Amino acid sequence: MSTTADDSVRAIFASMDYGPAPESAEAARAWLARHDRVFGHFIGGAFVEPVDGERFATVHPGDGSTLAQVAQGSQADVDAAVAAAQQALPGWRALDPGARARHLYALGRHVQQHARLLAVLEALDNGKTIRETRDIDVPLVARHFYHHAGWAQLLEREFPGYHGVGVCGQVIPWNFPLLMLAWKVAPALAAGNTVVLKPAEFTPLTALAFAELSLEVGLPPGVLNVVTGDGRTGAALVAHEGLAKVAFTGSTEVGRAIREVTAGRGVKLSLELGGKSPFIVFDDADLDSAVEGVVDAIWFNQGEVCCAGSRLLVQESVAARLEDKLRARMETLREGPSLDKAMDMGAVIAPVQLDKISRLVEQCRAEGGRCFQPSWAAGLTAPVGDDEAGTATRGLYFPPTLLADVAPASQAAQEEIFGPVIVSMTFRTPAEAVELANNTRYGLAASVWTENVNLALDVAPQLEAGVVWINCSNVFDAASGFGGYRESGFGREGGREGMFEYLAPDWEAALPTYAPGELTTPAGADGLGLGGDGSGGDAAVDRTAKLYIGGKQARPDGNYAYPVLAPGGARVGQAPLGNRKDVRNAVEAARKAVGWTRATAHNRAQVLYYLAENLAARAGEFADRLRVLTGTSLDDAAREVEVSVERLFFYAAYADKYDGGVHATPLRNVTLAMPEAWGVLAVACPDEAPLLAFVSLTAPALAMGNRVVAVPSPRWPLAATDLYQVLDTSDLPGGALNIVTGVRDELSEVLARHADVAAMWYVGGAEGSATVERESADNLKATWVNWGRRRDWFDREQGEGREYLRRATRIKNIWVPYGE
Ligand code: NAI
Ligand code: MG
Repeated sequence: MSTTADDSVRAIFASMDYGPAPESAEAARAWLARHDRVFGHFIGGAFVEPVDGERFATVHPGDGSTLAQVAQGSQADVDAAVAAAQQALPGWRALDPGARARHLYALGRHVQQHARLLAVLEALDNGKTIRETRDIDVPLVARHFYHHAGWAQLLEREFPGYHGVGVCGQVIPWNFPLLMLAWKVAPALAAGNTVVLKPAEFTPLTALAFAELSLEVGLPPGVLNVVTGDGRTGAALVAHEGLAKVAFTGSTEVGRAIREVTAGRGVKLSLELGGKSPFIVFDDADLDSAVEGVVDAIWFNQGEVCCAGSRLLVQESVAARLEDKLRARMETLREGPSLDKAMDMGAVIAPVQLDKISRLVEQCRAEGGRCFQPSWAAGLTAPVGDDEAGTATRGLYFPPTLLADVAPASQAAQEEIFGPVIVSMTFRTPAEAVELANNTRYGLAASVWTENVNLALDVAPQLEAGVVWINCSNVFDAASGFGGYRESGFGREGGREGMFEYLAPDWEAALPTYAPGELTTPAGADGLGLGGDGSGGDAAVDRTAKLYIGGKQARPDGNYAYPVLAPGGARVGQAPLGNRKDVRNAVEAARKAVGWTRATAHNRAQVLYYLAENLAARAGEFADRLRVLTGTSLDDAAREVEVSVERLFFYAAYADKYDGGVHATPLRNVTLAMPEAWGVLAVACPDEAPLLAFVSLTAPALAMGNRVVAVPSPRWPLAATDLYQVLDTSDLPGGALNIVTGVRDELSEVLARHADVAAMWYVGGAEGSATVERESADNLKATWVNWGRRRDWFDREQGEGREYLRRATRIKNIWVPYGE
C-alpha cells in the first residue's frame, strides 16, 4: 500500500467520515428503458394507451431529472378500469379462499424477488433514501401481502356472515407509494374484491412496476387495475358509480371532499388523513433513547409521514438536557442523494412541498420561535439534473429543523408541515401533557416516553390517537391496525380490524328498501298545528312528553309540540318538537358525562341489566302503549317489549366481553388493540318498532361506553319518552343517554354537523342517509347509515350482534416494547 493511500485510510479512520456509497440504479434504469420511459394505464391485465393520449413527466426529486412519462387518466380511462374490475369480480369472488391466498402469497414472494428494483425505483421517484426503501418500505410491502394471504385463506372461518364489498376505488399519496399500495390492495384482494388504484402523480412508477409483477404472478386480468394521473383522475375515480368501496390516504382537505362526493351512494369509505402527532417525553425517560425516537419520528422519510411525531412535548425539568442531546444528534444526521446508502435523509417530494415547509418555518421564526438547524445545513447543496428539454434542474432539500419555544396555538404547532420540522413545547404535569397532546384537530398517532409503565399505560388511553407508541415511534406491521381519530380520518388498515373495511355483513346487503310512505314526517311538524282527526284522542293516554337531557326532563326550546297519531288518525299524545338548540343542549350534556365512558365495563353491564329488569317489570304497560300507538295486536306489542328486554340483557352481557386483542407483531413488543368508545355518539331511529329499534340502537352504544344523543321514532316517539322513569330508576348517570324528539332528518342534520359528535348512526330514508354522510364531512365523524334500507328489528341477525358493537367502538393500538 502506498503511503498516500495509507494516509487517506488513516484520515478516514480519524474523521470517521463516510465516503459515497451509491446503490446502482441499473435495475431501475433498465426497467424504465424496457418501457421506453413511457407508460400507459394498467387495465384488464395489460398496459393500455390512455384514451386521449395525455401524459406528464414524473421526476426524481433528488436532482429534478425526468424519469418517465406517465398517462393522465381521463374519465374514459377510469370508466374502462372500473369496467374491467367489475368484469373480474365474479370470478375472483368465486375462487376458493386457498386459491386467492396463493395469489397474495405469490405477490409477496415476487415483491421480495424484485426487492432491489422496487427499492431503487421508489428512491428515485420519491427522493427518499435507498436505506429506507430497502430496509423499511419494501420488506413491509412483502410482509403485508404475506399477512393478507393468511386472511384470504381464513376468510370464511374468521369472518363468517361477511362478504367482500365489491369493486374498490383506492387513491394513495406519494410519501410511501408502494407501501400505501400494499396497505390498500392486499386487504381488498384478500376479502375477494377487485381494485382500481390511482397512485399519486409524483410517484406512479412502483405501482406500475407492481402491476407488471402481478402479471408474472398470474393474477387474473382486471383484479388489479392501475390508472395514473393527478387529482382530477382521483376525483373521477371516487365519483364513479361502479364502486362499492373507496379508500383514501392523503390530505384532510381532499378526504373531506371525498366524504362529500361519496355521500348517499351506499359506498363504504375509509380515510387515512393528516396528523400533528405528539411525541411526549416525561422526566424519567431514557433521554438517549428518546433522542433516537425523535430521529425516527420526524426525520424518517424527511418528515413526510402522516403519523410523524411533529410536536415534541417535554417535561420542563429535562427540556434543556433533551434539547442539547437532540442538537448534538442533528449534527450527525446525513442528508443527500437518495441512492447513497449512507444517507439518513433524502429530498422532499416537490417544489410545492418545499415552499410550504420553508414558509411555515420562516413564519414561526418571525413569530419568535427559536429555530435550530445543524451546522452543515448551510453547506447543503442540491445535486443538479436536467429535464426532458435539457434544462438544468435542482434537487429539493430541506435540513432537519427544530423549532423551540413555540406557542401551542401558532400555525407551526397546529398545521401539518409534512417536512423534517419538529416544534417543541414544555409541560409540567402528566395532565398538562395530555391536554397539550390533545390540543389539535388531528388524532393519528402519539409517542410516549417514560420508564414508568404505570404512567405510560395511564396516559395512553387518554390520548386522542389511533396509535400510541410507548418508548418507540413510527413502527408498523401488517398485523396491527393503523388509522386515526378525529380529523385524521376513520377506518383501520392492517390486522383483523383492517379487514372489516373491505367486508360487509351478509344481512346488510340483503335488506329491502322502505316502501313509499313507510317513513313519515310528523303531521304538524312544520308548524304548531295539532293535526289528527280532531277526535281529541284517547284521553286515558293523552299526555305531552318532554325531552330528556342530562338526566332531566326538559321542555323543548321552541315550546312547540306535535301530535302523535295512531294509525287511524286518532291523537294519542303530544311530543316535543326539538330544534337545533335542543340538540346542542343534548350534545353538551353528553359531552360532559365522561363518567359513563370511564366507568368499568362491569359497572355499565350492571346498569343495563337494571334497565332490562325495570322495563320487564312494566312490560304490560309498555305493551299496551305500543298497541295504542302503532295499532298492532297486543300479542305483537307484548313481543316487541319482550325482545327489547332481551336485547338489553344481550348488550349487558356483552359490555365486559367485547374486548380487544394483543396483535402478534413480529417485533419485541406487545401491541394492544383496545376498542374504545367514540365519546359522543348520535343515533337516529326509524319509525317502525319504536321501542325495539330505539333499544337496539342505543343499548350497544351505551354498553361500549358512549354517551348517546338519540332521536327516537318521529312517528311514535312516546315509546321512547315513556322510558324516562325506567331510566331514572336504573342508575344510568345523567347525560349518558339524551333524547330529543322531533323531525328525524332535521335533527340528524344538526347532529351530523356538530363538532362534538364523534360518530353517528342513522336509520331512516335514503335522502336522510345522504345528508348525514355529507354533513359529517366537517369534523370527519364516522357514520353508519342504512341508505334507506329496512332492517327487521325482531331478527337476531339484523337487529343485534357484534357488528353493532364494532360500530360502537374504534380500535386504538398501543405498542409496548419489552426487553432491554
Ligand atoms: P393530496 O391529498 O392532494 O393527494 C393525495 C392523493 O389524492 C393523490 O393521489 C392525489 O392525486 C389525489 N387527489 C387530489 N385531489 C383529489 C380529489 N379531489 N379526489 C380524489 N383524489 C384526489 O395531497 P398533496 O396535495 O399531495 O399534499 C398536500 C398535503 O397533504 C401535504 O402537505 C400533507 O400535509 C398532506 N398529505 C398527507 C398524507 C398522509 O399520508 N396522510 C399524504 C400526502 C399528503
Ligand atoms: Mg417522482
